[in-house]
Amino acid sequence: MEQELEKLRSDASAELERVSSSSQLEEFRIKYLGRNGQLSGLMKQLGAAAKEDRPRLGKLANSVRGDLEQIFTQKSAALAQQKDSTERPDLSLPGRRRVKGSLHPVTQCMEEICEIFASMGFSISEGPDIELDYYNFEALNIPEHHPARDMHDTFYIGDSVLLRTHTSPMQARIMEDKQPPIRVIAPGKVYRCDSDITHTPMFQQVEGFLVDRNISFADLKGVLTVSLQKIFEKDLAVRFRPSFFPFTEPSAEVDIACVICSGDGCRVCKKTGWIEILGSGMIDPEVFKMVNYDPEVYSGFAFGLGVERIAMLKYGIDDIRLYYENDLRFLSQF
Ligand code: PHE
Repeated sequence: MEQELEKLRSDASAELERVSSSSQLEEFRIKYLGRNGQLSGLMKQLGAAAKEDRPRLGKLANSVRGDLEQIFTQKSAALAQQKDSTERPDLSLPGRRRVKGSLHPVTQCMEEICEIFASMGFSISEGPDIELDYYNFEALNIPEHHPARDMHDTFYIGDSVLLRTHTSPMQARIMEDKQPPIRVIAPGKVYRCDSDITHTPMFQQVEGFLVDRNISFADLKGVLTVSLQKIFEKDLAVRFRPSFFPFTEPSAEVDIACVICSGDGCRVCKKTGWIEILGSGMIDPEVFKMVNYDPEVYSGFAFGLGVERIAMLKYGIDDIRLYYENDLRFLSQF
């Protein structure tokens, strides 16, 4: 027994010398110091030794355990230090993938629309979200107490300051500043106190207008038909329906043949085969007068389209609120 304990001590120390990694060290620990290891095995046999030998053998076994534990701890510290100083990147490991962000679908759609109008010679201009009552209404032939103000669920900030309810104020701002010919689009956010599956309190519009001599309704029809076909990348049918806006005369709402059912009638177009896509018209002479353009000399058309709605139709999205919930599973599809 005594010899076996001594042998264990010298074997174990010799073996520990050769240990050079933490996994070998763990194997060593299990082999010698573990609950079912060699030292425990010998200690269990102590009970069978002669009574007078037991105290001496017990003491010896404890000293072997003490020694082994001590050199084990030293080795473990030495290995840890070595690891710190020699650890190198393992070049054979596969690289970490970076999570790549992407543009929001509404932003993508907005950029496409802007590019299409830019390719037709329109310049791009942006204006303030916080707008004066004057530009949002007054300059657009919507005086105070005009019933058309009810069409807009306006967020007022002060008596004469509000969040713009449409991008049309840009017509007045730009015309005030420049003489015709003018060909501009004004993309941006607009706000209305409204929220359900098809409305969010903030949404985005692209305003467009063109002013020059001899501009007619035929120009409006031509430009809008071609641009809608480019936006939807399809030769789709477009129809112009009489409507009313205080700042255009005549006014027209523009429908496209339903992009889902191609006009047969479905849930999206409410069985009509048509989808309303924008408001437009010939700029009202009253608006020209506010910016000191002579309506006898100049004429022009304007239109405003809703970007969320167009993106919904292009990408087959059926709830406008998805855009603003910021669920990455939704957003990363675009
Ligand atoms: N500003 C109108 C709206 O938000 C759309 C429009 C723009 C209509 C330009 C006519 C001309 O509903």
